[in-house]
Amino acid sequence: MSQELNRDDVDVYIREVGLRDGLQNVKTFFPTEAKKEWISAEAAAGVIDIEVCSFVPPKLIPQFADALEVIEEAKKMGNLNVCALMPNLKGAERGIEAGVDQLNYVTSVSETHNLQNVRRTPAQSVEEFKAIVECRDRRAEETGKRVTLLAGCATAFGCTLEGDIDSSSVVSVARQFVESGADEISLADTVGYANPSQIKALCAEILDVVDVPVTIHLHDTRGMGVVNAFAAYEAGIRRFDGCLAGLGGCPWAPGATGNVVLEDMAFMFEGMGVRTGIDLKKLCTVRDIITRELPDEQLCGGLAKAGLPLNFSQATRLSAAAE
Ligand code: COA
Ligand code: ZN
Repeated sequence: MSQELNRDDVDVYIREVGLRDGLQNVKTFFPTEAKKEWISAEAAAGVIDIEVCSFVPPKLIPQFADALEVIEEAKKMGNLNVCALMPNLKGAERGIEAGVDQLNYVTSVSETHNLQNVRRTPAQSVEEFKAIVECRDRRAEETGKRVTLLAGCATAFGCTLEGDIDSSSVVSVARQFVESGADEISLADTVGYANPSQIKALCAEILDVVDVPVTIHLHDTRGMGVVNAFAAYEAGIRRFDGCLAGLGGCPWAPGATGNVVLEDMAFMFEGMGVRTGIDLKKLCTVRDIITRELPDEQLCGGLAKAGLPLNFSQATRLSAAAE
């Protein structure tokens, strides 16, 4: 069964995660002003959902030392869902204090991966999530602002450290998150192992057992990103993570570089008549900011290289200024 969206001008939601997932492995500090420029240029191209940073210890990942300043700027852009990642309760407290709209909590279904990434077993992470929900509810009563909690099941389609991951373990973790108060769930192919059949089967299974929105988070490590997005769409998923120019990776998954290329995925959907709300031409120009700041980083993506096909028309109705 496909999922309802609460906007009637788009058929799928595409969330930019490059400022978090893309930058977390990049050693060069991406200047704060350039991060702000990236956010505002993408918002102007119609991307309304952006994960702008991560609330991890700045000593561990200095790239996010400027989280507060980046969030302050992102909040000024009305109509933007400002999201941040948090690995633990402390990260949640920092995120809520900063005034984000959404927090993304990450737990790997693979025990070995979760221990390496956040120093907890999946069961301990789920337990901590309950404390995060309590903290969110308490702060919502005090401030009147209720932060949405997205609970991510990472390594849902396989793990570089453990190999196969049983789908029943993924379902179990997802179920526990929902029972604990998650507003949304995400399934992540953290290390780019998945194929379309696997995506279709697990997405359908999850959509059957949870009654909250489900996002698919794909990596293009083995070139399956866009086709896996299509498989997820066919299974009924309507929320997708992606990253401009396919930046991305995972510190504990050697070689797992590259989120699915956001602009290529948006191109696929628009070509199929599925509205993303994104102006593809404008979106491609935002890559210039990444090229300028990370000249040594290899950028991915076909659309930006080859351009739109002759006479291509978007499914999304573009604003007069863009046409
Ligand atoms: N933000 C800022 N500081 C934090 C923090 C957070 N979210 N979580 C912990 N800290 C600080 C603590 O206050 C403590 O500081 P101190 O040494 O000055 O006292 C220090 O970090 C260690 O805290 P500790 O309680 O031992 O950490 P932990 O075991 O609770 O958590 C994680 C470890 C989760 C913070 C760490 O493993 C992590 O950030 N992992 C995520 C890695 C990542 O981003 N992976 C990619 C995304 S999927
Ligand atoms: Zn990822």
